[in-house]
Amino acid sequence: MEFFIDTGNLEEIKESYRWGIIDGVTTNPSLVAKEGIDQRSLITSISEIVDGPISAEVISTDAPGMLKEAYELAEIHKNVVIKLPMTKEGMVACHELSQKDIKTNITLVFSANQALLAAKNGATYVSPFIGRLDDIGQTGVQLIAEIKDIFDNYAFQTKILAASIRHVDHLKSCALVGADVATIPYKVLNQLFMHPLTTSGLEQFLKDHANSLK
Ligand code: G3P
Repeated sequence: MEFFIDTGNLEEIKESYRWGIIDGVTTNPSLVAKEGIDQRSLITSISEIVDGPISAEVISTDAPGMLKEAYELAEIHKNVVIKLPMTKEGMVACHELSQKDIKTNITLVFSANQALLAAKNGATYVSPFIGRLDDIGQTGVQLIAEIKDIFDNYAFQTKILAASIRHVDHLKSCALVGADVATIPYKVLNQLFMHPLTTSGLEQFLKDHANSLK
């Protein structure tokens, strides 16, 4: 299972990459806006830190506009993945980019049928938003399981990238149903390391060691 960090914050990327568990980065227009720098500079800086896929999202809503942005973003670095919305125009752009071997990540996916459309258009990644489904009273991880079954039925190569992960249990559930990738916020990445028995156990070991030196 690959782990991406879901952020545009360079300090969060640098720190988590140091832990050895980060395979790539995803951004979106909201995350980029929070950083107060233009997307091109941000993606360039990320590519200098992380050697792995970096999703950069288009903001056009028509296919020609998306494609213009996509070609400009793809020029930044070989690791750039073009994030496109799950719309008809997004699918037109995805189809063309797949034919040109430019990697794509289809975002704002909330149904198995939408994921199937992305796979048929050769998307590299499909991003179901599980937290936002939970927010409206559905079970986000169930969608991951459905997409996994469908992709396995037809041997689609499109990777399932679980997004909108809000807590550690989301990650475990995604791993149990076989998501290929999870994109995880910095706060949740930190929480993954924690267990009260690890903390108390280490404290005791260190205390016993210190006492043995007296
Ligand atoms: O990057 C897209 C996704 O992970 C957003 O998550 O928490 O805004 O629903 P969230």
